[in-house]
Amino acid sequence: MPKQLTDVVVIDAVRTAFGRAGEKGLFWKTRAEDLCVPLLKSLIERNPGLEPSMIEDSIWGVTNQVKEQGGTIGRMIPILAEWGWEIPGCSIDRMCASGLTAIGFSVSHIASGMADCLIAGGVEHMGHLPMGFMRDPHPRAEELLGGPSAFNMGMTAENIHDRYQQFTKEMADEYARNCQEKTDRAIRAGKMKDMIIPIEVELADGTRMTADSDQQPRPGTTLEGLAGLKTPFREEGGRVTAGNASGLNDGAAVVLLMSGAMAEKGGFQPKMRWVASAAAGVDPTVMGIAPVPATEKVLKKAGLTMDDIDIIEINEAFAVQALFFLDHFGLQPDDPRVNQWGGAIAFGHPLAASGPRLVAFLCGIFRENPQARYGLTTMCVGRGQGYSIIWENTK
Ligand SMILES: CC(C)(COP(=O)(O)OP(=O)(O)OC[C@H]1O[C@@H](n2cnc3c(N)ncnc32)[C@H](O)[C@@H]1OP(=O)(O)O)[C@@H](O)C(=O)NCCC(=O)NCCS
Repeated sequence: MPKQLTDVVVIDAVRTAFGRAGEKGLFWKTRAEDLCVPLLKSLIERNPGLEPSMIEDSIWGVTNQVKEQGGTIGRMIPILAEWGWEIPGCSIDRMCASGLTAIGFSVSHIASGMADCLIAGGVEHMGHLPMGFMRDPHPRAEELLGGPSAFNMGMTAENIHDRYQQFTKEMADEYARNCQEKTDRAIRAGKMKDMIIPIEVELADGTRMTADSDQQPRPGTTLEGLAGLKTPFREEGGRVTAGNASGLNDGAAVVLLMSGAMAEKGGFQPKMRWVASAAAGVDPTVMGIAPVPATEKVLKKAGLTMDDIDIIEINEAFAVQALFFLDHFGLQPDDPRVNQWGGAIAFGHPLAASGPRLVAFLCGIFRENPQARYGLTTMCVGRGQGYSIIWENTK
């Protein structure tokens, strides 16, 4: 017998600063789990009335589930936060959308009545566990995925440029420059302050500092500077550069989700309400186009059109892939609804952490725009997938 879905709301969303992967990174000497634990502690501090015992599962997205990120990190995080053995946990992999999928699956748990209160997060320490580390693809994978470029995300972005030549390198660079400008404006206006939880860290040279701001943004980026960068994924005639791609980063983010009834009973103020989720698959050699079918699906499920969406948070794995999405929906590259506070080209993209980062941004932007009703979070995924969720502002 069909059952009515339970209302699902976001109560809070926080993240670490995003560091650069590698020895010069903020988190070179910090383990992945230790990025997550302070976030859990902050959820308790920021949400009076919230007790660890209320949390029924800890669902974490993580792409590279080996070494410090293996062994079911989703279960280990609440234990390391000293929340006790009673909080279960698991880890989910949908590559870049692992964290957004953790949120989507958590929503389904609550909507179906299986839980009332969950945390859903994402973490990736790309410095300790680089992309593809210890992976052993099936011998037939290359043939079935469409060729070797399907394994290299930068090459998939070059493939989009090849296939859709209306998106030029100049357009990608302009998009990237605008992203850096929006990011710089947002940071200087203090928009990151509420969502970033400061963490005490030791750097590679032994000095200690508080990691409370993102390391990746490059304010002052110019078109001239971008034009001169190397194209590492294709030496001759390439268009994808370090400037118009997201970076390699370390970071974590987490979202606190509740049923509407529990939020009301406990006096928790919801930031937004879940409307619909959808995943879609495309040709893996142009994986970046996948937010288009995922978003078409989710709009259909929600009974909405793109005209109804007031705020769009798209994860910019590569500028060309965001340009493809915007063009498909008839939006200009500088549409004010899109990535108002900047995006992954500037902030960086610690894979599984980026989905919950988008949710944190949408919560903040909704709060500043009470007239905005619907918002979209959408991401592309290696191996050719897209994942989109629509949310409603609860003001
Ligand atoms: C593109 C990529 C290879 C670049 O890596 P990198 O070489 O370590 O990047 P860096 O930050 O060192 O930048 C390279 C150069 O570009 C310069 N640069 C980067 N961004 C710039 C900007 N906005 N303006 C001017 N110069 C810039 C750097 O200063 C550096 O110059 P240098 O070589 O003279 O020191 C890497 O970021 C990458 O693989 N990105 C994609 C990640 C990915 O696939 N994620 C999954 C998505 S699905």
